[in-house]
Amino acid sequence: MDERIRNKYIYQFDIRGSIVSIAAYGKGHINDTFLVKTIVDGCIKRFILQKVNSNVFKKPEQVINNIEKVTGYLKTRADSERVVLSLIPTKEGNTYFKDENGDVWRMYNYIENSICLDVVENEQDFYECAFAFGKFQRDLRHFPAETLYETIPNFHNTPVRFGAFLSAVAADKCGRVKSVEREIRFITERQDFYSALIDAEAKGDLPLRVAHNDTKSNNVMLDYKTRKALCVIDLDTVMPGYSVTDFGDAIRFGASTAAEDEKDLDKVHFSIDLFKAYTKGYMAGCDGKLKDTEIMLLPEGAKMMTIECGMRFLTDYLNGDTYFKINYPDHNLVRARTQLKLVSEMEEKWEEMKKAVKEYC
Ligand SMILES: Nc1ncnc2c1ncn2[C@@H]1O[C@H](COP(=O)(O)OP(=O)(O)O)[C@@H](O)[C@H]1O
Ligand SMILES: [Mg+2]
Repeated sequence: MDERIRNKYIYQFDIRGSIVSIAAYGKGHINDTFLVKTIVDGCIKRFILQKVNSNVFKKPEQVINNIEKVTGYLKTRADSERVVLSLIPTKEGNTYFKDENGDVWRMYNYIENSICLDVVENEQDFYECAFAFGKFQRDLRHFPAETLYETIPNFHNTPVRFGAFLSAVAADKCGRVKSVEREIRFITERQDFYSALIDAEAKGDLPLRVAHNDTKSNNVMLDYKTRKALCVIDLDTVMPGYSVTDFGDAIRFGASTAAEDEKDLDKVHFSIDLFKAYTKGYMAGCDGKLKDTEIMLLPEGAKMMTIECGMRFLTDYLNGDTYFKINYPDHNLVRARTQLKLVSEMEEKWEEMKKAVKEYC
């Protein structure tokens, strides 16, 4: 980062001491992240500076407002700086700084002596990630979720996603429908399932919660020595939602034996062992503070997120690949197929999933 930006942006924030270094940091795919080191009274202090991706987040002020509310609340419950993100205010007392291009910058405390994993290395790591997200729900269980902005409307509204899918099939813009009839049938055959979570909310079985909405392992900081969960990061997508979709998306991504875009479907399996490890960790993190009816819907959350994701990939394939970045022509179709394969294996292991949830709750 050049000197100009260094002076202009960093000194907007209320940090003491002088800057030692600034460097691009981490492997995040969304925001531009920098590690800032300062020296204060002979001690090095670290901060995370981020430019919020304005292509993804159209209303960055609302994103930061949500983060401010959630971190402010979590801080009152935290016993150390290492277990919660804190927004460092600007010298003017704001939680972000807007540059001349309209880009929004923010600064966080650095979670010291921590690591995050792009791919979990074993069941124990997966358990710890689950624990962190479970604890996130436990700590926020009395937070008024409806006061947060819905920064991406209908993000996990599966019936709305299904509607978009049906429109893509009907339009058949690229003439691809014929070649994916089997996949289309798989998705349409399950249409009665898509309102399961919304119906459960209407019945009072599934409370509105603070959903994190990006529950990948690389959004959990673990202690670098003990590998115990410290802190959930990347709060850009916190919104009113359900605990079970957070849980479900983590399972969709993390309990698969192969990458989301594995071409060889023989390598793609839903691992019931990883599901059990995550469930156990999540339950330990929640510590019995979720509603019973909500806990019983965790398997539905996993299946919902997986089929929703599959239908989104297929929708994009039918529409001509306008949303997800692709590296080759059938990339979205390959992705859709992995998700549908996982769904069919979840259905085969449904009773085992239900049993595991009961056992660990
Ligand atoms: N407060 C923090 N302390 C330590 N490392 C952090 C912190 N915030 C972010 N990081 C590192 O930067 C990476 C990207 O940050 P993240 O907020 O997840 O952005 P993105 O939305 O681009 O994924 C993380 O995976 C992590 O390695
Ligand atoms: Mg991230």
